[in-house]
Amino acid sequence: MAGDVENRVAFITGAAHGQGRAAALALAREGADIVGYDVAKKIEYPAYEFGTGEELESLKKEVESLGRKALVFAGDVRDDPAIASAVGTTIEVFGKIDILFNNAGICAYAPVHEMTELEWDAMIDINLKGSWLVARRVIPHMIRARSGVIINNSSVMGLRGGNRLSHYAASKWGMIGLTKSWAIELAPHNVRVVSIHPTGVNTPMNDGLAFLEGATPIEIAERSAGNLLPVPWVEPEDVAHMVVYLASEKARYVTGAQFVLDAGLLSR
Ligand SMILES: NC(=O)c1ccc[n+]([C@@H]2O[C@H](COP(=O)([O-])OP(=O)(O)OC[C@H]3O[C@@H](n4cnc5c(N)ncnc54)[C@H](O)[C@@H]3O)[C@@H](O)[C@H]2O)c1
Repeated sequence: MAGDVENRVAFITGAAHGQGRAAALALAREGADIVGYDVAKKIEYPAYEFGTGEELESLKKEVESLGRKALVFAGDVRDDPAIASAVGTTIEVFGKIDILFNNAGICAYAPVHEMTELEWDAMIDINLKGSWLVARRVIPHMIRARSGVIINNSSVMGLRGGNRLSHYAASKWGMIGLTKSWAIELAPHNVRVVSIHPTGVNTPMNDGLAFLEGATPIEIAERSAGNLLPVPWVEPEDVAHMVVYLASEKARYVTGAQFVLDAGLLSR
């Protein structure tokens, strides 16, 4: 039976682990070929575990075991030549990019008056500017094909404030500005753009924040959450289901909109 995204090509940033990996596998199960792009090494900030080259290689094998094709690239979303090279190779190999999941991101706590410029710049450069740097390389191919969908992974922090999270929240609110503006600009080309807004998700990011704070992952989730449903977090697979829907023809008239997966948090 044809899957929801049969024969589409999905370019996913932050694909080595966490939500990017879960979305890659869910899209592959629904018939998509996968391009995984991830920095795949430790970077200067935050000081927690990032994806690895081994994870990228195992993602490739897992996608192939599902009967789909995969390419993986180690590269930073702040590195335009690396992005251009990965997008160029993708077009040579697959001929198109139908789905862009702008998902790579970082998070860390910092009081507003103690935050360093390095912390501010890294947060904005990776979460916000990185989304644009990747999209601007992909969009010409979507315009040429007169088809495509861009899914920006924001957060509930893109719809509210957060204690010691002003740089993170600013980057995630900014992604709504990108989403709505790109939706306006790209609709005449039949390219859709949406943002998603998960509550805490059970991924290595949460473990990393716990490590930085000297807390347990559950404590981190409960500190910022306040989910209505009795769960500390949602699973990356829950986010992946939303990504598959938004990437599919079933969402063909959905653009410019914000999709919340918050276990009820924002109703408070
Ligand atoms: N975990 C949560 O609670 C949560 C909640 C809502 C939204 N989000 C957002 O979802 C996205 C994915 O988060 P996650 O929970 O899977 O995080 P994660 O840290 O578990 O995984 C992020 C992946 O992105 C990669 N990455 C980080 N910086 C990069 C860069 N500069 N260039 C390329 N790749 C880079 C990492 O190597 C890693 O593989 C992020 O944008 C995050 O802000 C997370």
